[in-house]
Amino acid sequence: EPTENKPVRVWCDGCFDMVHFGHANSLRQAKALGHYLVVGIHTDDEITKHKGPPVFTEQERSKMVRAIKWVDEVVEGAPYVTNLETLDQHNCDFCVHGDDITVTADGVDTYHLVKKADRYKEVKRTEGISTTDVVSRMLLMTRQHFYKGDKEYEVEKEHSSVMGQDKAARSPWTGCSQFLPTTNKIIQFSEGIEPKPTDRVVYVAGAFDIFHVGHLDFLEKAHQHGNFLIVGLHTDPVVNQYKGFNYPIMNLHERVLSVLACKYVSEVVIGAPYSVTADLMKHFHVDVVCHGKTPVKMDINGEDPYALPKSMNKFVIVDSENSMTTEKIVERIIIHRLEF
Ligand code: CTP
Ligand code: C5P
Repeated sequence: EPTENKPVRVWCDGCFDMVHFGHANSLRQAKALGHYLVVGIHTDDEITKHKGPPVFTEQERSKMVRAIKWVDEVVEGAPYVTNLETLDQHNCDFCVHGDDITVTADGVDTYHLVKKADRYKEVKRTEGISTTDVVSRMLLMTRQHFYKGDKEYEVEKEHSSVMGQDKAARSPWTGCSQFLPTTNKIIQFSEGIEPKPTDRVVYVAGAFDIFHVGHLDFLEKAHQHGNFLIVGLHTDPVVNQYKGFNYPIMNLHERVLSVLACKYVSEVVIGAPYSVTADLMKHFHVDVVCHGKTPVKMDINGEDPYALPKSMNKFVIVDSENSMTTEKIVERIIIHRLEF
């Protein structure tokens, strides 16, 4: 039993395939119910058995969870049906899960054992976001793309007024997201800290669409160039301009939360300019600007968006050593879907 001087240890488990801010929000709430958060990740085999193969490997899935700032420890190979032995083994007082019923392939509640032992607590599921939802946004995009054959799918910006009523018509301009962002959620996810005068400020910018392991490896490396990492996120129209199709799949607000949930990130600029400006460098006291090895698109004037920090000798190319891209995720999903 927890006493005043004994830290409360909380257990969470799940698939955590295609980790999104809904997962992060459940872990945030779980952590708030105690002091130390242990997260169990199911194996690829177990997930395949109970709900079909995951898109990401166990290694990728646990890496993503480990990087969420409320997570203290990750345990791989957690059983699909949470049992008391597992909780005891990790000295966890109770188990926390979102308020949705999860069942095994045989229809058994995966939390029936911990519920019976009164070692189960529930947090509110984040509405408007799920893996299924993200996958359908991706498939929708590609289906549109396939319909038009070789021709690139163009978002019809002028029809935004009717899109709200037509469920089949989706675009990044109106957003197919059902998630309702609030300032409160941003505050809950934010560190709320400012850099100390002695801090070395690192700035990176990008789309960070469907926050993935490639982004994570990049941010981990970038944050090693200083001790206060600021991530600038481009707006949806800007991302659409350089990514085409109907990217981004996650809108700006969703991307903000995903990036804020990452433990390497201290601050996020919501709607950062495409090109790094002198104003931005000065305002945030940026010491170094980093970019990964992915190609950089020139700005609308045909100029390098990193020209300024380069001229100041404050630009570093960081090798994430990870070739994951948002496009690759979309490919994986399609291959995955074709198999089932
Ligand atoms: N979760 C949540 N809000 C969401 C999605 C997931 O709070 N929108 C929570 C789940 O309730 C669970 C944890 O995240 O406590 C991780 O569980 P996982 O098995 O990965 O979640 P799924 O329900 O499969 O997630 P999704 O619906 O996105 O596939
Ligand atoms: O493509 P996007 O704008 O989301 O990328 C954000 C940053 O992450 C860029 O600096 C990019 O080079 C980097 N990145 C990386 N390795 C990956 C994917 C992205 O270094 N696999």
